[in-house]
Amino acid sequence: MKRVDMTRRFTITTPIFYVNGAPHIGHAYTSIAADVLARFHRLNGEEVLFVSGTDEHGQKVEQTAVAKGMEPQAYADEVSASFRQMQKDMAISTDEFIRTTEERHKGAAKALWEKVTANGHIYLGAYEGWYSTRDEAFIGEDELVKKPDGTFVAPSGAPVERVKEPSYFFRLSDFQDRLLKLYEDNPDFIGPVGPRREIESFVRQGLRDLSVSRTSFKWGVPVPNDPDHVMYVWFDALANYLTAVGYPDLDDPRAKFWPANIHVVGKEIARFHCVYWPAFLMAAGIDLPKSVFAHGWWTVEGEKMSKSLGNVLDPKALADEFGLDALRFFLMREVPFGGDSNFSRRSMITRTNVELANDLGNLCQRTLSQVARNLDGILPARGTLTEDDQAMLAMATLLPTIMSEQIERKAITDALEEVWKVIRAANSYIDRQAPWALKKTDPERMADVLRVLVDMIRGIATMLQPFMPDTMAKMLTQLGVQDDERTFAALETLLPAGRTLPKPEGLFPRFVEEEA
Ligand code: MSP
Repeated sequence: MKRVDMTRRFTITTPIFYVNGAPHIGHAYTSIAADVLARFHRLNGEEVLFVSGTDEHGQKVEQTAVAKGMEPQAYADEVSASFRQMQKDMAISTDEFIRTTEERHKGAAKALWEKVTANGHIYLGAYEGWYSTRDEAFIGEDELVKKPDGTFVAPSGAPVERVKEPSYFFRLSDFQDRLLKLYEDNPDFIGPVGPRREIESFVRQGLRDLSVSRTSFKWGVPVPNDPDHVMYVWFDALANYLTAVGYPDLDDPRAKFWPANIHVVGKEIARFHCVYWPAFLMAAGIDLPKSVFAHGWWTVEGEKMSKSLGNVLDPKALADEFGLDALRFFLMREVPFGGDSNFSRRSMITRTNVELANDLGNLCQRTLSQVARNLDGILPARGTLTEDDQAMLAMATLLPTIMSEQIERKAITDALEEVWKVIRAANSYIDRQAPWALKKTDPERMADVLRVLVDMIRGIATMLQPFMPDTMAKMLTQLGVQDDERTFAALETLLPAGRTLPKPEGLFPRFVEEEA
């Protein structure tokens, strides 16, 4: 079997975050998932551009700033910095962080607007209808949901207000057929299948032209040649993906990174990315991204996260308590990527203790402490392999191929399960072979067994780097793997015997819940 040949260049984005509140676990989740994919592709030898940022315009941000008695820019500066800090705390390896209030971004948004206008897809009219500021979305009459008290809300439950204002419109209705063809010709354009079906049926029902400018407030990118209007915040925000590749400068060195391979988004913003965004790009004559992947939502102990319930989870606090890598692991492991999930303390503790401390931590610790004690910490050569040894090594050798296929399908959770199969197999191998008992009877065989284990753990740790970068770096150091031997391709070369391994140290402490 050959490793799936992924394109040598890989561009991935997270949604850009609204700056109307502090970062929470949902924002960390979307960032970590994209980070795992970005790191995986880097270790696979691809040239990666990983983009994130903050979405700083619009009525919601303006209103929040006003409520705090701050200028929108000063407020945006402060909150944007907290998102940057959150990503630093979560070890998010972005290459570009776009703030929509930066001049470079305003330039890109304006250039996109001008191109779409020049191609005849924007016209001036007036919008009369409903708007949800919380969703930053225009809500059609037919989409309104009636509450028991007789009032109407958006499908998300957010309040709506009546708006009547002059507005530019984008001829979205002209793009229905082209969008349906896009989905049909590219079954992987939208993943997973749930959101794909939803989007297809939404488009099949017919598209109305989209209001793309606002006149009732000022906090946005001014519409070129008509300063009474600011761009609708989603037109502005989506353009960030082009800002990141230097648009409209086609000679920018980053231009080669377009089109993006994948936009990672939450399911509630799939429509903006799968309908509006490709239509804007088609209208501008710009290549379309290859795919949009919509992930699910986290609840906390069974409840929707909300300020009023006081259950909003701070990712930094969780990382401080459990360890960053344990948190990253948990978020990627607990739920199939694309599904919804619930964050429970109990299950965070169980996974940390069972899968990290017991399964992985003990495997590594047991192996390396025997190498330290019984082989003076010196890496033995590969010995004569028994059938059992070969079967074990084969499992580890196949990991990069199997995981690449899964990552290609965005099956992040399955990819982790694959590693755990090898970890569990290695744990039964060590019990079965009992190297500690061989110390007196057959020291040569003991060394062979330990070498098989070191090689398996090296494979495991190499492949887990995208998920747990810091701890796996430490594990690889303990195994004597040098910095330039940590790519997936490096696994094809055996570590030379004779290296002196550093003193092993436990990497995953068991989590003990303090008595209430
Ligand atoms: N600004 C827009 C995106 C513009 S992209 C051109 C936006 N921002 S957001 O801050 O509201 O959300 C950013 C991301 O966080 C979304 O992908 C959203 O799905 C994710 N999450 C916010 N809360 C979440 C959970 N409770 N669970 C999982 N992810 C959630 O939308």
